[in-house]
Amino acid sequence: MQATFKAGTAHIKPSFLFSLQAFTDPMNAIKTVFRYLSYYFRSNTLHGTHSPFVYKLLEDVVYDRAPYPEYEGPEEERNRLLHDQRMIRITDYGAGAEVNHDKERKVASIAARSLKSKKYARLLFRLVRHFKPRHMIELGTSLGITSSYLAKAHPQVTLVTMEGCPNTLAVATESFARQGLENIRTITGNFDHTFPELIDKMETADFIFFDGNHRKEATLNYFYKALPKVNERTLFVFDDIYWSDGMAEAWQEIKANAHVRVTIDLFFIGLVFFKKDQAKEDFVIRY
Ligand SMILES: C[S@@+](CC[C@H](N)C(=O)[O-])C[C@H]1O[C@@H](n2cnc3c(N)ncnc32)[C@H](O)[C@@H]1O
Repeated sequence: MQATFKAGTAHIKPSFLFSLQAFTDPMNAIKTVFRYLSYYFRSNTLHGTHSPFVYKLLEDVVYDRAPYPEYEGPEEERNRLLHDQRMIRITDYGAGAEVNHDKERKVASIAARSLKSKKYARLLFRLVRHFKPRHMIELGTSLGITSSYLAKAHPQVTLVTMEGCPNTLAVATESFARQGLENIRTITGNFDHTFPELIDKMETADFIFFDGNHRKEATLNYFYKALPKVNERTLFVFDDIYWSDGMAEAWQEIKANAHVRVTIDLFFIGLVFFKKDQAKEDFVIRY
């Protein structure tokens, strides 16, 4: 049986500890377990949440357990990828390079370690389905599982998903084709160049999922680059906000930014809203 640290509905699996640099930095893994405990004991559920905006979001979206039929395709793809024995050559421009030194990796191993879990990919699906952004950007396609959820959540809008590794992106593109997803545009290259190029051309940005290059400086650079494009309906989602000391510091700085109104800390991801009619407040929500 797999040992699992459990607390309420949330849990930490051994694979999660790997993703926390346990092998390269065991101290960081220990710190993150303490960060998790701190989060858990500070977190509120629906009933401890006084903001009507956040309460409704939790009730209608975050805690929505309906079995949407759109969940099936991406999960079939995840299973397929988890059994894909092909070796591919990796180009890694991100913080992942500090954890994985292998230049050749099995698709199955990437699927096991780098993709957002079903629980969070489905939450992203529900967020997009609820807010119906006019544009969607994902930094970090990897094998495209979350991209598939996002594209299915809002077929009327094209998801622009960005990835540095052409071989990983090629596997994702096969998956999009198998699912018949036509509302996905891919951009290959280092975000440091591709993201500013994309965002500079946009008048405004409604939804950005920041899920690659989990380093403090890089995360803040992408945040500040996108900040001039926010509007009343913008939602930024930051992945792995407690992955390292640097990411935890980046999350603190993002929360403190004067343009940010409401943040929701779900531990594995952080949601950032810019609605001017909301009081500036940071919520820590058990998920
Ligand atoms: C955690 S994975 C993304 C997972 C995906 N969003 C999902 O949930 O299925 C992060 C991806 O970002 C890519 N990446 C990291 N840093 C990058 C950078 N600076 N430029 C381009 N791609 C980068 C990596 O190659 C990796 O495939």
